[in-house]
Amino acid sequence: MKKLSKVLTLATSKGGAGKSTLARNLAAHWTNIGMRVAIIDADPQGSIISRHNPEGPLKDLVVVAEPEESVFTLIEEYRPNFDYIIVDTGGFRNRTTIRALIATDLALIPLKPSADDVAGALETHNLINELNKTPERGGVPIKYRMILTMSQQGTIISKHVRSELEKLGYLLLKSEMYHRVAYPEAAISGLSPCITDPEGPAARDVANIVKELGESL
Ligand SMILES: Nc1ncnc2c1ncn2[C@@H]1O[C@H](COP(=O)(O)OP(=O)(O)OP(=O)(O)O)[C@@H](O)[C@H]1O
Ligand SMILES: [Mg+2]
Repeated sequence: MKKLSKVLTLATSKGGAGKSTLARNLAAHWTNIGMRVAIIDADPQGSIISRHNPEGPLKDLVVVAEPEESVFTLIEEYRPNFDYIIVDTGGFRNRTTIRALIATDLALIPLKPSADDVAGALETHNLINELNKTPERGGVPIKYRMILTMSQQGTIISKHVRSELEKLGYLLLKSEMYHRVAYPEAAISGLSPCITDPEGPAARDVANIVKELGESL
C-alpha cells in the first residue's frame, strides 16, 4: 500500500528530554498551516492527551492515546488519512516504543546538553541500529536525527555536546529547541507558542526545526 503520511517518533531513554514538548510543537505548527496531523500519545503518562483541548485552537489536531504494543497497527491504519503522524513515547525503553520505532519513517531523539541526555540519546541510537535488523524493516534503516533541546544560545556546553556528537558521526539537527519559557506556558493549555505567540522566538525556532526536518523526511 502507498504510504501517504510521514511518521515521526520522538524517542529517548532519558526522561524529561523534551519529547512531548517537541511532539506538541511540531504537531501544532503543521496543523496551523493546514496539514492533517495526528499525535499518537504512546506514553502511559499521557502528557499530551491529558492537556489537549479538542474544542480549542488545535481542534483539527487528532490526539489519540495508544500506550500499548498495538501502536504499530494504529500507525498503519492512520497512514492513508494524515500528512503527519507524530508518536510521543515514554522516557524509557519498552515494547511500545520499540513497535513505534519499527513503524516510523524518522526517529527524533531530543537531548538536553547534559551527560545523562547524551547517554540516553546514544542508547536510543543503538536501539535503532538493532531494530534495523528486524524483518519488518525489510532492510530499510530507520532514519534518525538528534536534536538539542532546552539549550541556551551560544553556551559552551551546547557547543561542546554538538561538536562531540558531530565528531563521532551522529546526525544532529542544526536547529535547536532553545530553552524558552513560552513552551511550558503554552503547554499548560495544551498549546504551542505558534498559537500563543506566533511572531515570537519559540515559534520561529520550531519553524526552523520543521524546515530542516523537511530536508530529511
Ligand atoms: N525548550 C524548552 N524550554 C523550556 N522548557 C522546556 C523546553 N522543552 C521542554 N521544557 C519543559 O521541560 C519539561 C520536560 O519536557 P517534556 O515533558 O517535553 O519532556 P519529555 O521527554 O516528554 O519527558 P518524559 O520523559 O517525562 O515524557 C517540561 O516541564 C517542559 O515544559
Ligand atoms: Mg513526555
